[in-house]
Formats: sequence, structure tokens, C-alpha cells
Amino acid sequence: MSAELIDGRLIADYYRERLQESISELKANDVTPGLAVILVGDNHASHTYVKMKRKACSKLGIHSELYQFQESLTQEELVGKIEELNELDHIHGILVQLPLPQHINPITIIETISPSKDVDGFHPVSIGKMVTNQDTFYSCTPLGIIKMLEYEKIDIKGKHVVILGRSNIVGKPAGQLFLNRDATVTYCHSKTANLTDYTKKADILVSAVGKAKLIGAGDIKKGAVVIDVGMNRDEAGRLCGDVDFESAREAAGKITPVPGGVGPMTITMLLYNTVKSARWQLENRQKR
Ligand code: GUN
Repeated sequence: MSAELIDGRLIADYYRERLQESISELKANDVTPGLAVILVGDNHASHTYVKMKRKACSKLGIHSELYQFQESLTQEELVGKIEELNELDHIHGILVQLPLPQHINPITIIETISPSKDVDGFHPVSIGKMVTNQDTFYSCTPLGIIKMLEYEKIDIKGKHVVILGRSNIVGKPAGQLFLNRDATVTYCHSKTANLTDYTKKADILVSAVGKAKLIGAGDIKKGAVVIDVGMNRDEAGRLCGDVDFESAREAAGKITPVPGGVGPMTITMLLYNTVKSARWQLENRQKR
């Protein structure tokens, strides 16, 4: 039996259509959602991601502004730019593309962004609210995974979710979002002994480690849902995930491909958070 495919592009389109309606409503109230994107240095992947994010904004009628700086930008200069953007009413979201050059502390930079414009969901205020199960901006990839499962009507409550990877951007917040929905969560990482003992017990397996072909059929419980967050290159230089797709689909019940799985959902959730921020701002203005 071969697993059913979870089509990230199709699901992303579904959510983008819903967003289009919210954007029209905002525009009827004279609000155009606005995103400021900051890019420092010349990391090739970062340039590609930023281009994709801005193109997605433009397609939906979200205003975006790019602030591009040389690698030599100082931390103080970057802090100053973010403080300026924090004050601008037409900017609802501020995204600083990571990684930053070595001489800039990402924690200081993330903490400079106003929590009300933290559309990446990286600020400690956003993280704290997430952990205490309050409404906030949630990190885009984890939120995209949850929205995918909701679309597919896959139950989370009471399920055993195994997360591979403990990054601040994906692994840790993904586990927390599942916990908030009453899953039992196990985190595995590079120091986990006997990894397969855990992966085989997962009803929902999320892999976000960045290792091609880490997971195959022998690591998966029959019928499990497999979510592949990996973005790697195989021997032929083709984009691939952490999961050996052809092998894993023989054991999994449902599986996301790479490309065309989680990736389109991540960008959609950035748009979602930007629209959410614009709506919050409008609601606060209407209350006054
Ligand atoms: N670098 C890799 N992923 C991300 C992301 O989701 N947001 C930002 N700002 N930088 C990243």
C-alpha cells in the first residue's frame, strides 16, 4: 500500500484564497497589510527565500518593502532601522531574514522587533504566549504544519507526535503547538540514542533535521502521518527532504513530498501573520 500524498501547494492555495478575502475586507477599511523585509549580506539561499516571500506578498496585494544591506552593516545600524520600522503605521510585520552575519547577535535583533509586528513569531513575548497557550504570532513552519493537518482533517488530540530536530524556528515551536492541541510529544535530536525506537512509535512524525534520506520505511509505524520539513540536496543535486520518499511511502498512511509539501505552507503562514497583524491594528484603532 502506498501512502496518500499531502499536497502542500494545493493546501497553500486554499489558505491563500481565504486570506484574499481578509485582505479585501482590510482594504475596504483603508488598510493595506504591509511587510518590511530586512536582508543583510549575500547568503544565496536567503536571497532566494526573500524573493519568494515578496512575490507571494505581491500576488495577494500585500505591500512589501525590502531593506537590503551589505554584510558590513553594524548591529547598531540594524537596531536603528528596526526601531524606525516599529513606529511606522503602514508596516504591520517586520521580518529579518536569518542567518545574520557573525558580528550581529540575532537575539538582540529579534528582541528589537516590536512584538506587535513579530510576524516570524521569534520574539520571546511571542514564544512565551505560545507556551502559555495564548493567541499570538506563531512561527510560520510549525503553524503551516498544523494548518495542513487541519485541512486534511487529521486528529491531533491524544496522538503521539515525534519531532526530529530542536531548532528554535521549527522543532521546538512545532512540539509546543502539538502539545497545545493535546498531543503527546517526544523530541528527538542529534544526541538521541536508538532513534528508530522513537520514530516507530509516532502516529505523526515530523522531521526537521536537514539530513537527506534519514527516514525510510523501516523507521515508520504502519499508517503514520509523515511530515518532512527537510530541505536538502541529493547526490544528483536535486532538492529533497529528510525522508526517503519512495521507501517511506510504503509504510506511511499520509506523507508530504519535498518540494511541494511544507515549503509553500511556510510562506502562506507569513502572509497569514501579516494579515493577522493588520487586522489587530485595525481592531485596536476601531476600539479607540
Ligand atoms: N531563515 C530560515 N528560515 C527563516 C524564517 O522562517 N524566518 C526568517 N526570518 N529567517 C529564516
